[in-house]
Amino acid sequence: MESGPELLHPWQGEPIDYRCVALRFSREPGSPGLGIALPDRIARAAPRRRAEWLAGRRCASEALRLLTGQGACPGMAPDRSPLWPDGTLGSISHSGDMAVAIAARAGTCLAMGIDIERVMSGQAASEIASEALTPWERHRFEGDAFSVTLAFSAKESLFKALYPLLRRPMSFQLSELIARDDQGTARLRLVEELSPEFPAGREVEARFARLGDLLLTRVLVLA
Ligand SMILES: CC(C)(COP(=O)(O)OP(=O)(O)OC[C@H]1O[C@@H](n2cnc3c(N)ncnc32)[C@H](O)[C@@H]1OP(=O)(O)O)[C@@H](O)C(=O)NCCC(=O)NCCS
Repeated sequence: MESGPELLHPWQGEPIDYRCVALRFSREPGSPGLGIALPDRIARAAPRRRAEWLAGRRCASEALRLLTGQGACPGMAPDRSPLWPDGTLGSISHSGDMAVAIAARAGTCLAMGIDIERVMSGQAASEIASEALTPWERHRFEGDAFSVTLAFSAKESLFKALYPLLRRPMSFQLSELIARDDQGTARLRLVEELSPEFPAGREVEARFARLGDLLLTRVLVLA
C-alpha cells in the first residue's frame, strides 16, 4: 500500500538540523515517478529496482524541500553514490517496501549516512555473521540477531557517510560495534586506519530506532 513521503523524527536531541523522510512504496510495475527523470541505468533496470530508486529519490527530494524549500532530486554518480545539490548532503536507503532519506545543509556536519534493514531472523544473522562481523563481534553477538542487524546496518550507514569523503572501497571488517544503550545510541570503532582523519581506534556515534519490523540507523560525522 503506497503512501506519501512522511517526515520522521526518530531521535531526540540531535546535534544538527536535518530532515528524515520515509515512504512506503510498491515494487510492482507502474509505481509513480512523479516527474523524476530516470538515469539511463535505472530506466533500463528491472521494475523493482526502478521502484526502489524512485522511492528513495522521492524521499530525498521531500527531505530537501522541507530543509531548503527546493525539492531537487539528487543525481546518481557512476559508482551509484547519490549526487546531492550544492549546499546540501544526505543519504538514501530502502528495504522491502520502505524507503528513507536524510538531508542536511552542507557545513552542519562533514558527512551523514542512513540505512534501513529488516531485523534479521536468527538464521539470517548467523548466515551473514562471517561477512558482516569481526571475530570479536561474532563472539560477542552470537545468538543475538538484533545486535547482528544493528552492527550490519550501522556499518552500512558508516560506509555511506564516509564514502563521499574517502572515495575508497571498505569492508565490514574495518569497524565494529562496541556499545549500544536502550535509548537508541550505539558506537562504532574503526579497527584499521582509513585515512589520517580516520585512524584505527576512532569512534563514531550511531543512532538506531525500530520502525515496526525494520531497524533504522544513522551515522553523522560532525568533524
Ligand atoms: C553501497 C551499499 C551501502 C548499498 O547498500 P544496499 O544494500 O543496496 O542498501 P541500501 O538500500 O541501504 O542503500 C542503497 C543506497 O545507498 C546509496 N549509495 C550507493 N552507493 C553509495 C556510496 N558509494 N556512497 C554513499 N551512498 C551510496 C544509494 O543512494 C543507494 O540507493 P540508490 O541506488 O537507489 O540511489 C552496500 O552495498 C555496501 O557496499 N556496503 C559496504 C558497507 C561497508 O563496507 N561498511 C564498512 C564501513 S567501515
